[in-house]
Amino acid sequence: MLQLPIAIHLFSGSSVPESTERAEREPSLTTITSKTLMKDEPLADVDEPQGAVDLPEADWTIEDARSIYELDKWAAPYYDVTARGHVAVRPVYGAETEIDIHDVVEEIKRRGIQLPVLIRFQDLLRRRVIELNESFRTAIAEFGYRGEYRGVYPIKVNQLHEVVLEILEAGEPYDFGLECGSKAELFASLPHLERDSMLLIVNGYKDGTMLRTIQMGQQLGKNIIPVLEKYKEFEDLLVESDASNTPLSFGVRVRLSVAGSGRWAESAGDVSKFGIAIPDVLKLVATLRDRGITDAFKLVHFHIGSQIQDIMTLKSAVREATRIYAKLVKMGLSVKYLDVGGGLGINYDSPEAGLAQSINYSLQEYVNGVVYTIKEICDIEEVPHPIIVSESGRALTAHHSMLVVGVLNATQKNVPDELPEIDADDEPVVRELHDALVTFDEQTSRGVGQRKARYLEIYHDAVEKRREADQLFALGYFSLEDKGKAEQLYWAIMQRLHRGIAQLDPDAPLPLDLYHVEEQLVDQYLCDFSVFQSMLDHWAIDQLFPIVPIHRLDERPTRRGTLVDITCDSDGKVDQFISNEGEQRFLELHATTGEPYYLGIFLTGAYQDILGDMHNLFGRVNEVHVYADEEEPGNFYIEKTIAGTTVTEAVSLVQYFPSDLKKRMDALIRERVRSKQIRPTQGVAFLDRYSKGLEEYTYYNFWDASFRVENAPSESAPAASDASDEPASGDGVRAGAASSNGATA
Ligand SMILES: Cc1ncc(COP(=O)(O)O)c(C=O)c1O
Repeated sequence: MLQLPIAIHLFSGSSVPESTERAEREPSLTTITSKTLMKDEPLADVDEPQGAVDLPEADWTIEDARSIYELDKWAAPYYDVTARGHVAVRPVYGAETEIDIHDVVEEIKRRGIQLPVLIRFQDLLRRRVIELNESFRTAIAEFGYRGEYRGVYPIKVNQLHEVVLEILEAGEPYDFGLECGSKAELFASLPHLERDSMLLIVNGYKDGTMLRTIQMGQQLGKNIIPVLEKYKEFEDLLVESDASNTPLSFGVRVRLSVAGSGRWAESAGDVSKFGIAIPDVLKLVATLRDRGITDAFKLVHFHIGSQIQDIMTLKSAVREATRIYAKLVKMGLSVKYLDVGGGLGINYDSPEAGLAQSINYSLQEYVNGVVYTIKEICDIEEVPHPIIVSESGRALTAHHSMLVVGVLNATQKNVPDELPEIDADDEPVVRELHDALVTFDEQTSRGVGQRKARYLEIYHDAVEKRREADQLFALGYFSLEDKGKAEQLYWAIMQRLHRGIAQLDPDAPLPLDLYHVEEQLVDQYLCDFSVFQSMLDHWAIDQLFPIVPIHRLDERPTRRGTLVDITCDSDGKVDQFISNEGEQRFLELHATTGEPYYLGIFLTGAYQDILGDMHNLFGRVNEVHVYADEEEPGNFYIEKTIAGTTVTEAVSLVQYFPSDLKKRMDALIRERVRSKQIRPTQGVAFLDRYSKGLEEYTYYNFWDASFRVENAPSESAPAASDASDEPASGDGVRAGAASSNGATA
């Protein structure tokens, strides 16, 4: 029998919507920063590329790179820029071992592993586990706390087996355990309880199978605590316990009055979907008393949402939960654990930017806040200090993985090399645009205050004339040549405005419309990846991830661009970036030169791996696991590669099977052979080509790409990739034909 939930597809022949695009997002304010701009630059000639920022190379240092990409805010102490202008990682706890990420990519290329590639720095995962546990040890010693800390890793944050194994291994000296929130996660985590002392916290709404499995684990002597989310679960647990004659042992997620802070604030408070309210907790306690099993209630749990922004919110929640713990103890219950849930945040951006995703505390401050607050309340209430449990996921995993994507192509706006010849025969609208351009310098050479007003007027005029030209074309009054001239002139005006705006005082407010000039002029960098697969939270909840070129940081980035992915969805783009001054609508990038240009998308280790979806059937990306080793060249070795999804694997997920597809393709080809439209040998070659393509990686074959820039300035002419750098065939994943089992060691 099929269980619910089940997907029912009703086919009506033509009812399948073609697009899954989301509704338009609210536009957010653009920030024009002056970080790469110098004041009082002369206005450049009109044939300069528009997204360019023309500044002397000589005064650029890697310190500037650190500052422009905010490395001190989100990356320190784990990532930094080297003297070579590359991003390096320092993954090992207590050591300065540095791995140049560009070297890792060179090795990836040498092995023929295609981009995009997800790099896991396994030592960084270990480092975070150690840092969390050591922070608790420090706080416990400092505050004279008379209990222990027993952390658990919530596997939903990144269930990848390797990740879980690495965390458990690094956490062994601290008896680090696991948390799970569903049947599948329970079945995945239970067999990993190697030591009886390890905790397994089971959250989520539990059916009979889950409850019986938990009890089985308890009977095996494992320290498993189911956390009741609803009162009904308590009744179910009583029934199961009576039936199996297993002593009852559980925790309760209490519904706190304190609401969370930040994006996941509704995980707590009166409106939260989770937690048992105090009247029900009291009912439950009465039942335990009636049955004489007050020792069954082992743990008080709360979770006020992921990425807690404000330390004060956390402390208020800890205070409330500790009071509840203390009152329960005073009522005669032998509660042993206080579980503060997840929520320990990390900085994705600059805390000064004041964005929803920044936090206002450090790891040690968070830990101090938890330990000190619990101790303080317990001492006042005169109850024992409980064992502190936390369920930090994001803070453990986010830093350890990053995505390297290759830029396939940079599209600059259609900058006219030459301005069109305009004479009296041209259409009035075209002549007006031309006049606006010709008089630009003259009209803007007045005082600064007037200049701003003048720019605004020129902008409005240009937009109006362009609109008029488009309407005239649509109505058939304009020739293609007229339209072409109007567009050339429009872009030339925008470019001049852009340069003029860049020279205004960056601290003075800018009229909103002038921000649109910048928005129109940034370049588009087409990158080999899918936003929906690799940074779903960016699409879904506007999460900003730090994005930095992993090389060329000793060079001034002279362009401003947004990133677009290779899905055919207009939402498949990144056009909001972190910045000290708030969100920024462009990223400072380097001009493409014909050589591969790599961008690193950082802090992707939490949630993104598992949330990633199959939009456009781009599947999982290739993955390499890197370990630090000072004995190895470059201080690292690749321990493992996990192949990304093949075309066959991707289509199979939606019920297309290779044997059927090949049979259908074969029939199409045979029919053409039979009708003599193609030769039989051609037919064989076609079928072969189709079959080979089915085994390929779903992404663009980056190493085969010719790196080019459209409308590039002549000095950045396309260059063929170095033949000596050809990927070594056969020794990597998805170099061409690939293994079909999805993983290689
Ligand atoms: C019950 C519970 N515990 C732990 C976590 C992990 O939270 P975080 O990744 O913020 O540490 C979550 C996620 O929201 C959760 O719902």
